[in-house]
Amino acid sequence: MDLAARLHKTAQSAAVSRVVPRAAIPAARQSPAARAEAHPAVEVTDQPKVDHTRSDQYHEIKNSIHDRLIDVLDLSLLDSLPRDEMRQEIMRVVERILREDFAQAPLNAAERKSLLGEIEDEVLGLGPLEPYIKDPTVNDILVNGYRNIYVERKGILELTPARFKDDEHLRKIIDRIVSQVGRRVDESSPMVDARLADGSRVNAIIPPLAIDGPSLSIRKFSKDPLELSDLIRFGALPPEIGEVLMGIVHCSLNVLISGGTGSGKTTMLNVLSRFIPEEERIVTIEDAAELQLKQAHVVRLETRPMNIEGRGEVTQRELVKNCLRMRPDRIIIGEVRGAEALDMLQAMNTGHDGSLATIHANTPRDALMRLETMVAMSGLNISDVSLKRYISSAIDVIIQVSRLMDGSRKLISFQEITGMEGEMITMQEIFAFEQSGLDERGKVKGRFVSRGIRPKFSDRLAARGVSLDQHLFAPLGGAA
Ligand SMILES: Nc1ncnc2c1ncn2[C@@H]1O[C@H](COP(=O)(O)OP(=O)(O)OP(=O)(O)O)[C@@H](O)[C@H]1O
Ligand SMILES: [Mg+2]
Repeated sequence: MDLAARLHKTAQSAAVSRVVPRAAIPAARQSPAARAEAHPAVEVTDQPKVDHTRSDQYHEIKNSIHDRLIDVLDLSLLDSLPRDEMRQEIMRVVERILREDFAQAPLNAAERKSLLGEIEDEVLGLGPLEPYIKDPTVNDILVNGYRNIYVERKGILELTPARFKDDEHLRKIIDRIVSQVGRRVDESSPMVDARLADGSRVNAIIPPLAIDGPSLSIRKFSKDPLELSDLIRFGALPPEIGEVLMGIVHCSLNVLISGGTGSGKTTMLNVLSRFIPEEERIVTIEDAAELQLKQAHVVRLETRPMNIEGRGEVTQRELVKNCLRMRPDRIIIGEVRGAEALDMLQAMNTGHDGSLATIHANTPRDALMRLETMVAMSGLNISDVSLKRYISSAIDVIIQVSRLMDGSRKLISFQEITGMEGEMITMQEIFAFEQSGLDERGKVKGRFVSRGIRPKFSDRLAARGVSLDQHLFAPLGGAA
């Protein structure tokens, strides 16, 4: 059977010339849903060239064509077909509908073209989100109910003029995303993590948990992950600190990257992982695989949520335990957030040096406290002091990253764990970013400083042939 025949449900329904455009039906005779569709909210998808002036008629035509397309084509076959063939077929049918039913429609050539693009996005992609998915300058897309679509570019959140038709339309797009990873979202499981085909991370949460309508958060997967040189160029850290970071990772220090939501933890982890020597065997453990390692010898593990029957869950803790049987040289944990903290510390304390992990905390001290709480909750029965000693001997360095007021991300503190004093874990700050204010454009002003301390780990590095020049730790570092 040829493609066209497989796609068209029946020969009769393919008779597009019989289509009566919905716009031609008196509003009173239309269903409420159809009426709502005939006067949709402004839907603009051509970012950054946003067109606020499209007529209602344009939207009516678009909706009619979309509805007609769904009548005519068996969209359930979409996924099983090569995308290019599907796209061609859709375009062929849309052009035919346009030609036969809307020949007199007041659409100029540009509108016809964008209409084709928008219908394609609607049928094959993520509707109004599609232009932002394709836009490489956007790193986050945040949808709060059908009317509010925010994007983040260069650290700044902006409200876009795009919107969904209604909450149902937004739900349809959410369903499309989550069904691709074999999940579903409904009242009984109203929160779902999923991934787009390109690796972008998605979280969806719907009412009743999300009070004002379905909410969708997308962290775009970057095809070209940031490198140390990019971070230096963006002013996230000066080259001197970069040199020290290379040294500590190369020489297998255990490093914890601490930061708030979206502060650049995963990015920093990815950058640091670059400095792991090629011959070492790396195992990564993540809730949603985001890391992009360059080395060849990498095993990537990802947790699994429970299925609809509540079974089959595989936690980070189980993966960390399993990974210890895989003879790793390095263990990288995307984000420690629970009982796996104990197994990670055990690994660090028993010869798996050079492990890297991130943790959600606002200061290095908070990061330690969170670790303690996580371990305490994992059921380990030891005294507080012993637990602290355990942590202090496992972790060598904490790097604090932060998203500052102007949206920029910076390494704001580099701390070395030095041991214990009484019942306290002791740390010393080696480098820091000192903010002095904001300039007239609202950009953060400040400078990176070195506290003038030669870290204790310098000797460990020297023993492994990496000598850090003394000038790196001289009292003042580069400017921001
Ligand atoms: N130094 C930087 N300069 C500019 N952009 C950055 C920098 N670091 C990270 N980003 C961008 O900021 C966004 C958030 O980064 P990242 O995913 O690393 O944060 P995170 O702390 O891991 O977030 P989450 O808490 O959601 O896991 C990404 O789009 C990333 O590309
Ligand atoms: Mg992250």
